[in-house]
Amino acid sequence: MNTVEIIRKKREGQALSKEEIEYLIQGYTNGTIPDYQMSAWAMAVCFQGMNEQETADLTMAMVRSGDQVDLSSIRGIKVDKHSTGGVGDTTTLILGPLVAAAGVPVAKMSGRGLGHTGGTIDKLESFQGFSTELTTEEFVDLVNRIQLAVNGQTANLTPADKKLYALRDVTGTVDSIPLIASSIMSKKIATGADAIVLDVKTGDGAFMKEEEDAIRLAKAMVSIGKLVGRNTIAVISDMSQPLGYAVGNALEVKEAIDTLKGEGPEDLTELTLVLGSHMLCLAGRAQTAEEARAVLEQCIRDGSALNKLKEMVQGQHGDPNQVDHPELLPQAKEQIVVRAEQEGYIHRIQAEEIGLCAMRLGAGRATKEDQIDHAVGVVLHKKVGNPVKKGEPLATLYVNRNEMVNEVTQRLLQAIEIQTRPAQPPKLIRAIVTPTETIRL
Ligand code: URA
Ligand code: CA
Repeated sequence: MNTVEIIRKKREGQALSKEEIEYLIQGYTNGTIPDYQMSAWAMAVCFQGMNEQETADLTMAMVRSGDQVDLSSIRGIKVDKHSTGGVGDTTTLILGPLVAAAGVPVAKMSGRGLGHTGGTIDKLESFQGFSTELTTEEFVDLVNRIQLAVNGQTANLTPADKKLYALRDVTGTVDSIPLIASSIMSKKIATGADAIVLDVKTGDGAFMKEEEDAIRLAKAMVSIGKLVGRNTIAVISDMSQPLGYAVGNALEVKEAIDTLKGEGPEDLTELTLVLGSHMLCLAGRAQTAEEARAVLEQCIRDGSALNKLKEMVQGQHGDPNQVDHPELLPQAKEQIVVRAEQEGYIHRIQAEEIGLCAMRLGAGRATKEDQIDHAVGVVLHKKVGNPVKKGEPLATLYVNRNEMVNEVTQRLLQAIEIQTRPAQPPKLIRAIVTPTETIRL
């Protein structure tokens, strides 16, 4: 096969065969196809696109480029959830215990955060001693014993995607639906998911700022799932403001604990129940979303969901006492209240900027090597649509180092927009994409 011919074929808008795609991905992974040819091909894909079959073939070629996690010794249908970035998105911390408490195995591999979006692994490491470096055997054993484990990515997973994503980042070829869809799905499939629930965010803090783009990305991913035999469904949800109130690692753990007790923020609770219901349905634990929701609500009411979190923390060598006593989680030295400078209604809370503020305080990393501070971050006191009086608290900064406080305070005041006329809260769940239909809500 000839790499130049394949690039030219794509440039002219023709579909590539499975063999041609496999050849490209294998060659790129083992270094026989250089970066300049791969970037020419990626640019051709940006202009010409790929059909559903090509996108699925690309996904599976990337899955085969590295190790695949074998979860077959875990009983039951393994349903994974993936959120496409977000700010203060605590859903994984809540969904794991909640869905596991309902009897569905959750064997989750998660990443660390980079930039303004936080990673679940970082959040969990707020628990004293918590290990996210379990061996595959320990990981599988824990899931078989308590239905739940969350581990870091250790194996050599989808090296083709790692290399291609880095190349796309520096060649202006990130924004292509088939390239994004195959990148995300390859990682989920390589980590052993039988079925996948996607939470595709839209709005300021999201990868896909426009709702229609988010729906197109969701359709591409659901189609991949269908073509490769992994039942997939996508929920399109709002990320025009942060989810919940807390942004920062231990602060979000505390928010997750509250939510598992049934005392969490309304939007975070609702999104978690919607995503969890679809997970239960895909796992065969419930027939309808309504039935699934009732099961999940019961797990919150009877304390089994919160107890499941405790079991996981204990199982992964953390201190379960911190679940009952969140005041034992890392605490910041100082709390600084940011107050409204005028009266009115909250019109906008720029999610990305709030995420960047939390990062500035030390909650996130600018580069992979940065250390994070689990205690620090931002807790908002308002959501879009809320009325506010002059001098009322808008947010509390949890800080350990004072240098950033003035800058962050100014940025927060800019990011939270107050106007005199009333504002409508944004709709949280925008659409559901299934293999057969797109339901707009
Ligand atoms: N996230 C990914 O994992 N891959 C992309 O291509 C874009 C976002
Ligand atoms: Ca949150």
